Amino acid sequence: MHEVKDLTRENLDDVFEICSFNRPEGEIVDKGREFRVKWLTDMLERYGSCTKIAYYNEKPLAQILYYPEEAMQYIRNRRKDVIHIQCVYNAFQESQGLGAGAALVNELIADCKVGPEILDGRVCEFLVGYPFPSTEGITLDRFYPKMGFKQGQDEFYLEIAGKYSPREMSEYTPLPEDKDSVVIFYNPTCEFGYFYAEQAKQMLLNTFEELPIRIFNVWEDHEEYLKRPQQSIVAARAIVNQQIINDFQFWTDAEGWLKEVREKLSN
Ligand SMILES: CC(C)(COP(=O)(O)OP(=O)(O)OC[C@H]1O[C@@H](n2cnc3c(N)ncnc32)[C@H](O)[C@@H]1OP(=O)(O)O)[C@@H](O)C(=O)NCCC(=O)NCCS
Repeated sequence: MHEVKDLTRENLDDVFEICSFNRPEGEIVDKGREFRVKWLTDMLERYGSCTKIAYYNEKPLAQILYYPEEAMQYIRNRRKDVIHIQCVYNAFQESQGLGAGAALVNELIADCKVGPEILDGRVCEFLVGYPFPSTEGITLDRFYPKMGFKQGQDEFYLEIAGKYSPREMSEYTPLPEDKDSVVIFYNPTCEFGYFYAEQAKQMLLNTFEELPIRIFNVWEDHEEYLKRPQQSIVAARAIVNQQIINDFQFWTDAEGWLKEVREKLSN
């Protein structure tokens, strides 16, 4: 039986036992972790726990990361009393399929019904989760329906006290200032967001020495993101010469990613 705990300052490091398990180490990742600790601590103070951790025999196995959509200053048309699930992750293959992921979502649903602390005790209207590709476990577009979520507009949703309403989204339209340059957005909620940004910058500078590259934190530099609306960013994403790049490829095929950058720079 899994034990599910809310995040506190005391168990905050357990998040990294899960998300950083079997991942690259080094200064850039450490910096990414610092950013995530800062974000989690700020959210703890402002809203309460935005993460739940599932333990088995006291070992942290899986986590769910969520927050009020209204906290996401970097998106337009935020919906009131809607909770955005950023990710659910069980890092340990031998522990997958044994109920940790479901336990986390079910605990969150139970909180949402009574009025979670992060909504100041108001009942949640509905939960939304944006799926993204993964090479581990089952992907979230398969997992969310198993938990009762339905397909919405570019997201999955689960109604709690209200009716689902899609968020009106706008798309990135090329900005003159993005021409012949690279803009990278990273999300500090994932320690690998900053890793992507710095790694991508290094790879690009090794190939294109003079290329102007700007890096923004979506939570802090939200105005920059608002100028370039796009799909939810889980870790990070680059806009190259006014075109959005496939961010997943960066993790699975760095050479292919660089090839796409090269093509976009010459367009
Ligand atoms: C989605 C995920 C969190 C599920 O975690 P989990 O602890 O294995 O979940 P559970 O054991 O509660 O299983 C939930 C359901 O998924 C099914 N499931 C889990 N792993 C599965 C697998 N490898 N293949 C098929 N089904 C699987 C379970 O059978 C169960 O379905 P059921 O209710 O129909 O029986 C995990 O697979 C994962 O981390 N996937 C990657 C998701 C991702 O990209 N996260 C962000 C990373 S930053």
